[in-house]
Amino acid sequence: MTFRFVDFPAVDGDLRADVLAGLAAQPKAIPPKYFYDEAGCRLFEAICAQPEYALCRTEHALMQARLPEIAAAIGAVDCVIEPGAGDCVKVRALLDALHPGQLVVLDIAGAPLAAAAERIADDYPSVAVTALGMDFIYKLEAAAPYLTTDQRLVYYPGSSIGNFAPSDAAALLARFRQLAGESGQLLIGFDLKKDPVQLHHAYNDAAGVTAAFNLNLLARLNRELEADFDLSQFRHYAFYNPAAGRIEMHLVSLIEQSVNVAGQRFHFNLGEALHTENAYKFRSDEFSAIAASANWRLIRGWEGDGFAVQLYG
Ligand code: AVI
Repeated sequence: MTFRFVDFPAVDGDLRADVLAGLAAQPKAIPPKYFYDEAGCRLFEAICAQPEYALCRTEHALMQARLPEIAAAIGAVDCVIEPGAGDCVKVRALLDALHPGQLVVLDIAGAPLAAAAERIADDYPSVAVTALGMDFIYKLEAAAPYLTTDQRLVYYPGSSIGNFAPSDAAALLARFRQLAGESGQLLIGFDLKKDPVQLHHAYNDAAGVTAAFNLNLLARLNRELEADFDLSQFRHYAFYNPAAGRIEMHLVSLIEQSVNVAGQRFHFNLGEALHTENAYKFRSDEFSAIAASANWRLIRGWEGDGFAVQLYG
């Protein structure tokens, strides 16, 4: 087996700088990538198992049902690249179907990525596996020297693209284009616009797992930035905003309070929101227009139960 792991340590203070800037901004906001510490990754897995949150199951079913067609549309590929690969489970189906010589997986959570990628290397001895522990939103271009082969496919499943504002999504897709090259392809999964009540329930599950996921961000700041958030004084609040076409997640202060974070003091008014995530939902044509602005041409798309997978070249 061929396996290597390269860690790109976070620029010292990335989390601190982003959080302090976000708490000083008006309205207050923290980037959603900071949800995913160890506890946050576990909570996200639990969200995917909630009956109301169908996104992961629907994508899995669509990929299972259409994999032969998807693989045929992709054709020959030497190198599969998955940004934000996490536990590397989704890419296994593509490895089975496409038999690339190289897999390059990227994730901000380096240690769990390395463990998952090493398991892939064990299970697929003919695939050279490279795991890059990096915040690809900052450092994607640093992956280029590790790509040894030319026919490249960027795989970006899970509607992670929905966590970016459309202009940022277009910018990220343009960087994927640069990495994949002119002959490269992009296979991307995204959640479709649907009944807003269904979407509302998906982000307000009855078991409270999404609420715990959202509040874990404050617990993380308490652990890592010597903050003193009282979690019982913030409420998880998620809703679908049809004008913007997105779920918004907030943590709303239940009282007027001050909080210390990394030695700085921040004031919350009663009812003031800390915006923690947007999850955009698309129509297929809307998404293709964003991708086209990033120089991706739609080859084929597949849809099922409110989820879409599209292939671009
Ligand atoms: C990772 N991402 C696609 C999820 C989403 O649906 O936007 C994150 C999530 N947030 C709350 N529930 C799930």
